[in-house]
Amino acid sequence: MSLIVHVQSERLTSCAAAMHVQFVVSGSTISTELLSMYPMLSTVAASRQFSGEAGTSCMVASSQEPLSYGVVLGLGKAASVGGISIEQVRRAAGSMIRLAQQLKLKTIALTLPDAAVLGADQKTVLHELLIAAGLASYEFDTYLSSKKQEPYIFELFITGLSLSAELEQIISDAQVTIQALNEAREWINTPPNDMYPERLAFIAQELAGQVGLSCQILGEKEIIALGMGGLASVSAGSARDCQLVTLQYSCGNPAAPTIGFVGKGITFDSGGLSLKPAQSMETMKDDMSGAAAVIAAMRVIAHRKPSVNVVAMAPLSENLPSGTSNKPGDIVRFYNGKTAEIKNTDAEGRLVLADALAYMVATYKPAAIIDVATLTGACVVALGPLMTGLFSEHEDMVVQVEKAAQKGCDPVWRLPLNADYAAAVKGDISDLCNIGKGNYKAGATMGAAFLQAFVGDTPWVHLDIAGSSFDVPGISYFRPNTATGSGLRILVEFAMNFGK
Ligand code: BES
Ligand code: ZN
Ligand code: ZN
Repeated sequence: MSLIVHVQSERLTSCAAAMHVQFVVSGSTISTELLSMYPMLSTVAASRQFSGEAGTSCMVASSQEPLSYGVVLGLGKAASVGGISIEQVRRAAGSMIRLAQQLKLKTIALTLPDAAVLGADQKTVLHELLIAAGLASYEFDTYLSSKKQEPYIFELFITGLSLSAELEQIISDAQVTIQALNEAREWINTPPNDMYPERLAFIAQELAGQVGLSCQILGEKEIIALGMGGLASVSAGSARDCQLVTLQYSCGNPAAPTIGFVGKGITFDSGGLSLKPAQSMETMKDDMSGAAAVIAAMRVIAHRKPSVNVVAMAPLSENLPSGTSNKPGDIVRFYNGKTAEIKNTDAEGRLVLADALAYMVATYKPAAIIDVATLTGACVVALGPLMTGLFSEHEDMVVQVEKAAQKGCDPVWRLPLNADYAAAVKGDISDLCNIGKGNYKAGATMGAAFLQAFVGDTPWVHLDIAGSSFDVPGISYFRPNTATGSGLRILVEFAMNFGK
């Protein structure tokens, strides 16, 4: 655990921490309490023209031993004047952890910002502040030989608050969410020589054992025998076996609806024979981010116990060129009997997802499906790294997923999908083609249109996390060149609110 959380009713400065933190909304003042311990803070804040603007901070050291630091962090405008408040709290919490890391401090005392001013409730403020601090405290140092012997653990003291059963619940939910997000990030960051299909399947199985979920793993032979020609075809060029992982959470009521999550799990995407240029290949270990999100989301689901049954599925494969690999021109047959011509072996995500989606629909008859995939470079071009692309024709579900994205602070932006686009992925000599007809452009929608052929009438949303899953810049609680865990919280919040 990267974060230990204490709640205490004493005042901020009564807490013997190495850092005392106040979050300041634009235009409001530094508390007299903080100033009484750190009198220089008012001079420094004035000289730096600190006014609580988002992204700004001020810090002074105490004049007495033991040395500690007084810190103010700007939150920007109040909700009533158009501030994007909860996200500002998250970013300020990220900056707080960064400051503590730079100063090598481990104990931080803070008071929660005023929830009413932020247009939120106190539970949400606490939950999001903790999650952002937990995200910020994660570092990918597994492969550094200079790695610290002991993990760096922050102790957070939330002062001026008395602990209730409700707050305890919020804290434990946040802790499990942090654990899940950071483990997903760790799997994604792990280099592809160590994170291959059987390894990720093993990790999923271990997780299932820890939290009491059932787990099924199919190997390549079974995948071929079941007629999953898409997944088998993508895996054909690799010396490693593909896998299909299924994790199941049951809410205790078999009559309750089932929802399905499917995550793309390409542990390395070279493009196959339609080889990617070297630079585009550099980060392709992140092509299993969707699988990581759905697997780790099940940890949070097992903890938060939604009143719906949940099945999570991850088709896992490498996509490599070799004498046995699939070829442009190959026609494959999927689990549901449909066929597709592979014109570009780099459009492999839709091939493995097609089988998983068809298998999900046929086996579990879910009331709703969300798939999460680093599917297209076109989505990155359209939305950049700060938004996940959302595609669906099921308006009710779009509303629910957009709500879940907002609640989970995991932003989505809807891109087009309608019946007209289905024509673009129709094949000439097979049912489908794995790339869209050239004059339709809209590469991200082409991927979605292909997947849609495998969900039948099941309400379904496709989330393209190609941009949002890795190397998201300018956000204090993320780090460059590492994974974000995007998609995970959308799945959890969707499950928690399903049918409500
Ligand atoms: N894994 C890639 C998509 C991707 C691109 C993810 C950038 C993360 C960052 C996917 O398999 C892919 O290569 N898609 C092709 C599809 C095309 C051949 C139709 C693409 O986007 O170029
Ligand atoms: Zn690809
Ligand atoms: Zn891919």
